[in-house]
Amino acid sequence: MKGDKHFIFIIALIALISGACRNKNIQQNQEDYILERKVDSVLALMTLEEKIGQMSQLSGRWEFTGPVSDDHPYMDDVKNGRVGSMLNITGVKQTRELQRITLSETRLGIPLLFGYDIIHGYKTIFPVPLAEACSWDLDLIENSARIAAEEGTAAGIHWTFAPMVDIARDPRWGRIMEGAGEDPYLGALVARARVRGYQGDDLSNINTLAACAKHYAAYGAAEGGRDYNTTDMSERTLREIYLPPFKSATEEGVATFMKSFNELNGIPASANRMLDYILREEWGFKGMVVSDWNSVGELIPHGIARNKKEAAILAMRAGIDMDMQGNVYNEVLQELVENKIIPEKKIDESVRKILRLKFQLGLFDDPYRYCNEKREQELLLNHEYRLAARKAARESIVLLKNEGHLLPLDKNIRRLAIIGPLADNRYDILGEWRGRGEAKDAVSLLEGIKLKVDARTKIAYSEGCSISGEDRSGFKQAISIARKADAILLVVGESANMAGEGHSRSSLDLPGIQHELVKEIYNIGKPVIMILMNGRPLAIHWENEHLPAILETWQLGTEAGNAIADVIFGDYNPSGKLVVSFPHVTGQIPVYYNHKNTGRPGTNDYRFNSKYLDNPVEPLYPFGYGLSYTSFSYSNLRLSTDTISMKDTLEVRVTIKNTGKYSGEEIVQLYVRDLFGSVTRPVKELKDFRKIHLDPDEEQDIIFRIHTDMLKFYDIHMHRKAEPGHFHVMTGPNSAEYLQQEFILIH
Ligand code: NOJ
Repeated sequence: MKGDKHFIFIIALIALISGACRNKNIQQNQEDYILERKVDSVLALMTLEEKIGQMSQLSGRWEFTGPVSDDHPYMDDVKNGRVGSMLNITGVKQTRELQRITLSETRLGIPLLFGYDIIHGYKTIFPVPLAEACSWDLDLIENSARIAAEEGTAAGIHWTFAPMVDIARDPRWGRIMEGAGEDPYLGALVARARVRGYQGDDLSNINTLAACAKHYAAYGAAEGGRDYNTTDMSERTLREIYLPPFKSATEEGVATFMKSFNELNGIPASANRMLDYILREEWGFKGMVVSDWNSVGELIPHGIARNKKEAAILAMRAGIDMDMQGNVYNEVLQELVENKIIPEKKIDESVRKILRLKFQLGLFDDPYRYCNEKREQELLLNHEYRLAARKAARESIVLLKNEGHLLPLDKNIRRLAIIGPLADNRYDILGEWRGRGEAKDAVSLLEGIKLKVDARTKIAYSEGCSISGEDRSGFKQAISIARKADAILLVVGESANMAGEGHSRSSLDLPGIQHELVKEIYNIGKPVIMILMNGRPLAIHWENEHLPAILETWQLGTEAGNAIADVIFGDYNPSGKLVVSFPHVTGQIPVYYNHKNTGRPGTNDYRFNSKYLDNPVEPLYPFGYGLSYTSFSYSNLRLSTDTISMKDTLEVRVTIKNTGKYSGEEIVQLYVRDLFGSVTRPVKELKDFRKIHLDPDEEQDIIFRIHTDMLKFYDIHMHRKAEPGHFHVMTGPNSAEYLQQEFILIH
């Protein structure tokens, strides 16, 4: 009887849910249908020239994010309806004026779409994305993208060229700072979080931005880490390492994609039809694809097109709907269509996607809906956003070394020396791609510390030297204040423009004479805490050998100084973990955790194996590494069974205990190794993680679940599947320290 009731209840529930789903589907289909008819109605009115105009994007003149060879009169193009979108125009006043001109002067008055690189904040600047990923906190990452969207839309922007989801294994590449590091699994989750944050669940809300997954694809694998350079890799590596974040962004509903500058296996991305096939046919992406800055025109220097017409044909065939700041489409497409080389149907397909996006953003309902001066004034840099930026900055910090519990410092410390070119710097801490963030709104570390310490603490500050100059005359004063101090904060690293686009470095050493400054201060024999500010991993082997404490603070944005002070004085217990491995020296690159084993796996003490003579096999700091002021123990790793079939789920349990004196957060990581396969497999792969909070003496059991889908890879026939056999499962505080068990997967 009881069972019957249950049954009836379940049937009723299923009916209710499927009814709701059906209704939802019907509603969605109706909405899509109406949207398509709206797009049709506009398309039907358009001349070929107007259609091609929609496929063209030009940059505003007061900010360039790429090379400009001619002074193209973009205002004429706007007035003549030869521009569908503009980038680098920001602020309500400017966007409103351009929109007004478009509406009043063009025949059809199709509103402009304003795009901008809002990469880690628009006005309130958040940590650079590489840093923020070190928080492993997906809600926090989503929230910072949401705030960036609120600020950006309040300033008239509709579309951000973010998230940048390129996996990067070479820290010489300056753009490593824009992504989420070296791991495809974490990278895919971060990509999703950022897309959710920017887009929310409805693009028509005035506080959501259309997002753009970029740079498609494999841009992060540029040879030698030199920006724009050639990329060559197997399809397996492409699919397993570089594509997962893009695929996830698609699944999350990202509105647009951007093609990358690089060639991939001989074909530049902007002409690469295989990439387009994967995106459209395999993943079912329906949105608009934009080129990168003149990447259509660059098909000529790439040596794959002899002229603009050939470039446009290749780009159209490779699925580029919008030509960013190249003016190639505008110049040649009309003739190509008239000569029947490109069918007008192809043009219509691209224009449909662009118009659809404009409808989804509500621009046809009210082209000025993002142009509200009051909203702009009220929202930008408000108190709530600054608090969120401070929280994000604190969680992005990674404690690399802390001998003898030197940190946290006591707020009553009597004499503190703060030395280094970045100590009182409000500019470089904002990092590259800082939107409209301004140094005047940022908090330097010196300022953050002054707000934090006891009124009686004596703070002495000296720059010591500049970031990249050779002048040693400041050493004397730095040494003199260091001698009188109880502790020294040595704040060194990179300027903002040493990372980001076009900013690759051949050396990962501290720039200029900063390393010499570090040595001089170390020689005084006082406790030295090195605070690093940088947009990429640096090679700090010597510093790690000699200095007792090192804090990696990256470029943390507007609230950097407050956030770092929170950590230095223990108001926040650092919890960040590296999302990219640090090499001992530049020559050790590439050094990433999920490498292959080789036939002669490296050990440091034997000749005939894979290693360098003059460098350890291991990285200086591995992926997933980061310390806390407290300590955590891992014990009792147990599996629900030692054998699973393809349909089963394996439960992995581990006990984590806070064995130290502070409350703190720990990022518990789960790795798997497939021991033997039809193709070689990485020595380990991140499969899951949890960020937990534990008070002193508190312990918690974490349960991970492994199912077959997590064990799949591209086999010898390029089929994505799991192969039966032996696996190691590892769980620990980073990719190099873990507990391990074994299980078997059977058919
Ligand atoms: C070139 C960069 O590669 C891309 O990331 C950026 O979005 C565009 N310029 C626009 O600024």
